[in-house]
Amino acid sequence: MTADQPKLIVEADAEALARAAAERVMARIAANPGQIAICLTGGSSPKKLYELLGSEAWRGRIPWDRVHWFIGDERFVPASDPLNNMAVARATFLDRNAPAEHIHPIPTASENPDCSAEAYARELQVFYGADRLDPARPLFDLVLMGAGPDGHTASLFPGYPELEETRRWVVGVPKANVSPFVPRVSLTLPTLASCREMLFQIAGQDKRPILTRLCNGENLPAVRAHSNGETVWLVDKAALPEDIREPR
Ligand code: 6PG
Repeated sequence: MTADQPKLIVEADAEALARAAAERVMARIAANPGQIAICLTGGSSPKKLYELLGSEAWRGRIPWDRVHWFIGDERFVPASDPLNNMAVARATFLDRNAPAEHIHPIPTASENPDCSAEAYARELQVFYGADRLDPARPLFDLVLMGAGPDGHTASLFPGYPELEETRRWVVGVPKANVSPFVPRVSLTLPTLASCREMLFQIAGQDKRPILTRLCNGENLPAVRAHSNGETVWLVDKAALPEDIREPR
């Protein structure tokens, strides 16, 4: 991988990967003495990290009164539905620790995904204090990401028009490319890029085929998604393509 590509960090297994991710969360928090914005993700990949952050060993290290928690994409289902991404993060670690007003879910009680997207864009803009992203002032300290089997990330699917969005901060996605086949709401690539660090977590043998395609530089959403600052792919050995040696 070259310098303008993401930094690839290999961990032994999913547990070590979650610990490394938690250390990176702590490092980003430590680097900012003011108000901190972290954009979470859905799917199964971040669950171990969320459990760690809520555990006795880690929760005391987080200055909860200074951290705001957002989400990069949402399934257009009620907040009470187990498929709801923010509901998983809330149940796993946020509700027991974070002040309620620091948790920023994508609203899904709106009429349709486009209305949700508009409402969340406004919420992000109020938090940021402007409706234009300034490259010198990232929206998020950290954006967590995962990669789906088709190379999607957040709810930006290969070949879908939402992937090309450059103006709107958040978009409605009427149809998902993979299960669960519910409409989605997703931050767009420029919004996700407005961060100091974008951290992908990719673990397990099932991820090896898609990680192989991503490492080969296929023009897929997870390859196009990057931070204007640092982009890191945290992967475990089981997901690592055979022809890529562990970097030293
Ligand atoms: C979602 C996610 C999505 C996820 C990938 C990976 O709503 O599903 O935000 O982008 O990160 O699909 O999912 P897994 O972690 O379940 O493999």
